[in-house]
Amino acid sequence: MQRLFIVIITLAIIDSSLPCFAQESIKLPEPVINNDLMKALRDRSTYRNFNPRPLSRQTIAEVLWAGYGINNKKTGRRTVGTAFNMREMSIYVLTGEGGFLYNAEDHVLVQITGEDLRPIIATQDYAVSVPLHLVYVADNGLVMKQSPEWAHEIAGQFSIMHTGQIAQNIYLYCALNGLGTVIRNVVNKDDLGKKLGLHPNQRIIASQVVGYPEQ
Ligand SMILES: Cc1cc2nc3c(=O)[nH]c(=O)nc-3n(C[C@H](O)[C@H](O)[C@H](O)COP(=O)(O)O)c2cc1C
Repeated sequence: MQRLFIVIITLAIIDSSLPCFAQESIKLPEPVINNDLMKALRDRSTYRNFNPRPLSRQTIAEVLWAGYGINNKKTGRRTVGTAFNMREMSIYVLTGEGGFLYNAEDHVLVQITGEDLRPIIATQDYAVSVPLHLVYVADNGLVMKQSPEWAHEIAGQFSIMHTGQIAQNIYLYCALNGLGTVIRNVVNKDDLGKKLGLHPNQRIIASQVVGYPEQ
């Protein structure tokens, strides 16, 4: 009897110490998929079974523009914002024709090498023959120069956030345009960095492949 009394008192104390939350959950309305953005969000997914058919120049241009292109020519703002508007990110482009740097200001691909660097970066079987590999690179040197007091944060977490935004833009573009894509970890950064002529302050953060799905 005494034990039962102690249990009841203990339960009462625990119960009264709990914060008083509303008991009912709020049922949310279903999202209305009635525009392209909502459709792209609905269809976004990772894809790993690619057809090796090369992408057209138009498609490559749109992938790059969606990822990190200039969407306001007056201000130079991009499809992705960067901390302090630092724009420390670069996209390197690897295709069967070689390695290139995407110059967003002029919307051109600057050739760096004629060597097909995709085998260096592929590392996973499905990625070897994907026609387009993008490499996301942060310029820590630029960050140090422009904003030394924030360099640690930008070079650390911010550049990773910027990379995620670029990659997600491209995921959404692909979802809406019948393309497959995967963001990928880069394993052999040193080899690739040398082939792309990166300087010591440039840091490879991730890569992403884009191609047509195998039917
Ligand atoms: C930061 C990050 C790194 C990833 N790295 C790889 C990778 O190296 N190789 C790969 O095949 N998939 C990679 N993925 C894809 C994930 O496996 C995939 O997003 C996850 O399985 C969920 O699938 P979903 O994107 O279709 O929702 C990565 C995803 C993220 C966000």
